[in-house]
Amino acid sequence: MTQSLPRRKDFESDLRGLLRTESIGSTVRAFESVDSTNTIAAEWGGSGAPHGALVFAEYQSRGRGRFGRAWQARPGLNLTFSIVLRPELGPDQLGLVTIAACVAAADAIEALTTPTRPTIKWPNDVLLNGRKCCGMLLETSVSKTNEHPVVVLGTGLNVNQDSFPQELSDRATSLLLETGQLVDRMQLLADICDRIERRLEQAKRSSAELRRDYMARMTDIGAPVRLHFSSAEGGVQGVTLGLDESGGLILQTDAGPRVFHAGEVTRSL
Ligand code: BTN
Repeated sequence: MTQSLPRRKDFESDLRGLLRTESIGSTVRAFESVDSTNTIAAEWGGSGAPHGALVFAEYQSRGRGRFGRAWQARPGLNLTFSIVLRPELGPDQLGLVTIAACVAAADAIEALTTPTRPTIKWPNDVLLNGRKCCGMLLETSVSKTNEHPVVVLGTGLNVNQDSFPQELSDRATSLLLETGQLVDRMQLLADICDRIERRLEQAKRSSAELRRDYMARMTDIGAPVRLHFSSAEGGVQGVTLGLDESGGLILQTDAGPRVFHAGEVTRSL
């Protein structure tokens, strides 16, 4: 399927020249336009792509976010990419991939936005001044050539986009809007890949340091929140205590502390 899509060979070789990683980005496929980089990466992963293989696109016609939402980004201005991962983590530890990627992205963003400090909304949003600039989508699929599940980590990062549709403008932002500076997207992507690789290595040894760094950026720590699992139900109310060893959210509820591995957090009064 991807054979028929025009590749951006210039982008692929430029990125390879910048990467200092062992595995993340070791193989790159860059496209002008795809439906979703997560879909392309899942297909590639299923047919044997190595750990760290990266799919980049200048534009996605059907970019997707969590809860079936669309991810929209203007062509040529942002970062939309997916990484095929075969993490050496137990199945109940896979949530740590999102945790590692969020910290990696937030650290890379902070290097460009200081003194503005990125924060993280559990599980997968990176915010600047309370507005979302980056989201992650972790999807697992079964590999035909490997007994381990293939994990696809998709990242959408608003970089040089200078405005958003009205319905998003109070919730979305970009690095350009926050700093007034255009960013070299390729350098930023290389930096994020490098940091993801190091954070995944760290997670493999122990999640303690990674969780400490994530919680230091967490927006709702100590706050009363409601955790929703779909738009149809009321969710669970509690106070955010932090992350457990697998990256789950610990909520102090009326029934005591409980750990959740999915959901969307909103502040409650
Ligand atoms: C979210 O915030 O809900 C997650 C957004 C994830 C968007 C990225 S863009 C690259 C990759 N391809 C997709 O279709 N989605 C992810």
